[in-house]
Amino acid sequence: MELQGKRIALGVTGGIAAYKAAELVRLLIKQGASVQVAMTEAATHFVTPVTFQALSGKPVFTDQWDPRIANNMAHIDLSREADVLLVAPASADFLAKVAHGLADDLLTTLVLARDCPLLVAPAMNRQMWENPATRRNIATLCNDGVTLLGPGCGDQACGESGLGRMIEPEEIIAVLIAHFQPKLLAGKRVLITAGPTFEAIDPVRGITNLSSGKMGYAIARAASEAGAEVTLVSGPVSLPCPHDVSRIDVSSARQMRDAVLHRVANSDVFVAVAAVADYRPAKPAGQKIKKDGSAPAAIELVQNPDILADVAALPNPPLCVGFAAESEKLQEYAEKKRRAKKIPLIVGNLIHQGFGGDNNTLILFDDDGQHPLPPAPKIELARQLVARIAILLEKR
Ligand code: PMT
Repeated sequence: MELQGKRIALGVTGGIAAYKAAELVRLLIKQGASVQVAMTEAATHFVTPVTFQALSGKPVFTDQWDPRIANNMAHIDLSREADVLLVAPASADFLAKVAHGLADDLLTTLVLARDCPLLVAPAMNRQMWENPATRRNIATLCNDGVTLLGPGCGDQACGESGLGRMIEPEEIIAVLIAHFQPKLLAGKRVLITAGPTFEAIDPVRGITNLSSGKMGYAIARAASEAGAEVTLVSGPVSLPCPHDVSRIDVSSARQMRDAVLHRVANSDVFVAVAAVADYRPAKPAGQKIKKDGSAPAAIELVQNPDILADVAALPNPPLCVGFAAESEKLQEYAEKKRRAKKIPLIVGNLIHQGFGGDNNTLILFDDDGQHPLPPAPKIELARQLVARIAILLEKR
């Protein structure tokens, strides 16, 4: 329920992607938002108002002269109570009208009379998107402070392929949730490691661990929501990359270290969430080890570089945040790691809670002492960690 209590005015314009707006309304309601739908006349040719009425639980408006609004002020009343006006899909024609300040139907008058942010999710044929007129209109809208969601790239209803698809309803929800988060890290660059590493024994076998990447990905999402430019260096996991986050996929600890050291110079914050293998096989076999008795009796291991310690030891390091997953004596071991790696903040969690699940319990250890974060979904904890990081950045 990450949009609990939020009031969304949803405009739907005419385009085949209008059918996806029905799913969008369902997801908005599921996240706790209240949704007031207004459709253009063209949109009603693709999906009927009855569909949106059933999903939103509210009457749908299509006409600025709708007699249900007693004072005939639909264009003002419908958006005045909204926290945001979201238009999805937003057709080329609608965007052109808004760019030029036209108000010749209910939705465009709503846009002009609003006193809340406007977010639009364009949807059109790729040639229409690339047309110089559309480019000019989009530039005007961005200049006017309108937030653009997409468009995405891929197959289009017309049979062509390219830029112009409406982004998926789940992505729109993620952007909306981000929209309402405080911008505590605006202008900051955050580098994060997440997931396990995989250390090869032979071409098909290796040493790894049970990190799912969920904690690190949640922190990447929370930092991005807080306005940071986020780079996520990820070990092998099966998670989608959070919206607006740039992901670099790596496998081994040494690849992770190279990827981090390559990017760290520009970073304000480094958060090491990855469960990096401390050791790797000294001599991985070039070919698959056969079950014919030729396998070595033991695998010799060598120590991996410590990425976090290396970053913290740089001449001008970013604010370094480490993680410690322990099975006992969390405070003692976490503080010991914080001192050993010479970092200002370490986040302790117990292994049976931290690894794999959607929830966690954290304790933050820094120079001010301990800050326990009670059990919660990883994304909630990640937002609280981001708030603590913002405080430490202020103090630097
Ligand atoms: O991915 P999930 O399933 O959501 O699980 C999350 C998690 C439990 C993996 C995560 O919350 C966590 O605790 N990660 C750190 C695991 C750990 O205990 O790491 P460590 O004690 O080996 O290392 C301490 C710190 O040094 C960590 O920040 C680690 O990223 C870093 N490190 C460790 C070794 C190494 N070679 N390089 C490093 O950078």
